Amino acid sequence: MKITSIKGFADVLPGEVELWQTIEATARRVFSAYHFAEIRIPILEKTELFSRSIGETSDIVEKEMYTFPERYGDVSATAKPDVVRDSATVTLRPEGTAGVVRAYIEAEMFKTEPVRKLYYMGPMFRRERPQKGRMRQFHQIGAEVLGRGDPVADVELLLLLHDFMRALEFTEPSLQLNSLGCAECRPSYREKLLAFLQQRQERLCHNCRRRIERNPLRALDCKEPGCIQATQDAPSILDSLCSQCREHFATVQRLLRATGVGFTLNSRMVRGLDYYCRTAFEWTTAKLGSQSAVAAGGRYDGLVQALGGPAIPGVGFAIGVERIAMLLKMQERPAFGELAIYVVWVGENARDWAFPVVHQLRQKGLAVEMEGDVRSLKSQMRRADKLQASSVLIIGDEELNKGVAILRDMASKQQEEVRLDNLVAVLAAQRRS
Ligand code: HAM
Repeated sequence: MKITSIKGFADVLPGEVELWQTIEATARRVFSAYHFAEIRIPILEKTELFSRSIGETSDIVEKEMYTFPERYGDVSATAKPDVVRDSATVTLRPEGTAGVVRAYIEAEMFKTEPVRKLYYMGPMFRRERPQKGRMRQFHQIGAEVLGRGDPVADVELLLLLHDFMRALEFTEPSLQLNSLGCAECRPSYREKLLAFLQQRQERLCHNCRRRIERNPLRALDCKEPGCIQATQDAPSILDSLCSQCREHFATVQRLLRATGVGFTLNSRMVRGLDYYCRTAFEWTTAKLGSQSAVAAGGRYDGLVQALGGPAIPGVGFAIGVERIAMLLKMQERPAFGELAIYVVWVGENARDWAFPVVHQLRQKGLAVEMEGDVRSLKSQMRRADKLQASSVLIIGDEELNKGVAILRDMASKQQEEVRLDNLVAVLAAQRRS
């Protein structure tokens, strides 16, 4: 019987993987310009790390995490998995921020240099209902700045994202911005919103009603039409900010305007993770249907302390790689990872000549392909076309006798003869120029 992949878990096949490499290479280049260092964190962490940081009432922790006992054998002998305490269970990371903050605290990075600019890339796992742009295993490229509470840090991150989008030639994803206040001003907003929602309880969906007391802000983010309607004239968090939060947010907006990055204020955007405070943002696109956020993040000033570290602020974001790859595909950019040269050979002598030359060209860093089996000239040319080779190098007995090979540019269809004795040097130089 055929074994298939798990629902919501996908292969990234050649043809698509080149897009991913472009995205990753672009991110690395832009991150380096902003002086970020890479961090690699484990995929599996203690469950408690996520329940304490992302929040018990978040969708992620409530129903989307892949959690299991660390040692099935031991646990099942004494207790059923559902009575195993959180600390005994482990979870496939649903996001990267919690792990980065844990690593920052565990390695005591704050002792040598509290300000750290870190980035990561890799798979994350959420047991959501799969649909276009929403996977159960998906990939993020994330950045976290620890040790900076100033609004300049927020704007630097937004500029980084802006530069990343521009480097991929995206003009469209746009920035939605909000401030979620702080421990000082959010409680009073929470009360105001709760009172508002309680008056409209019967119009809210079951989920929002259920968590109205514990997390009323989530109702603003609910995609149910009834909830959207019922909360249309809900009080805005921006009207409840304390003077420090207001000042912080005003500076973020001022600096963004000064750098020419456009944004829209969206006071309903509350984000699905509980650790956020102050600046929160999403880069959204109209091109991906309901899964419109291609990157998102915000400030989380209380998280380091909540996870057992000192009171150190933080701010960050994560880019969804699958969603960026979908956008890139729509742009119909030229194929990435293209084939530089396809060598067409006719006759065994030509093959024996071509084989070591192909090796030398590959050693010079050129992507080169040749057949192993005898095939007609026509069939080899068709194959070069299919593989979208930039050039074809043709060699047969006649060329060998003359000491040349024919180089054909596949786009312009122009042909020229290249001498065999310095062919490798000529082709390598052409590639560089
Ligand atoms: P998030 O909004 O949960 O934030 O995810 C960030 C991005 O990951 C989303 O905008 C989306 O592009 C992508 N993403 C999320 N879930 C899925 C999914 N099921 N399938 C495909 N793509 C998905 C965070 O994870 C925060 N840790 C971001 C952050 C970093 N905040 C501060 N620092």
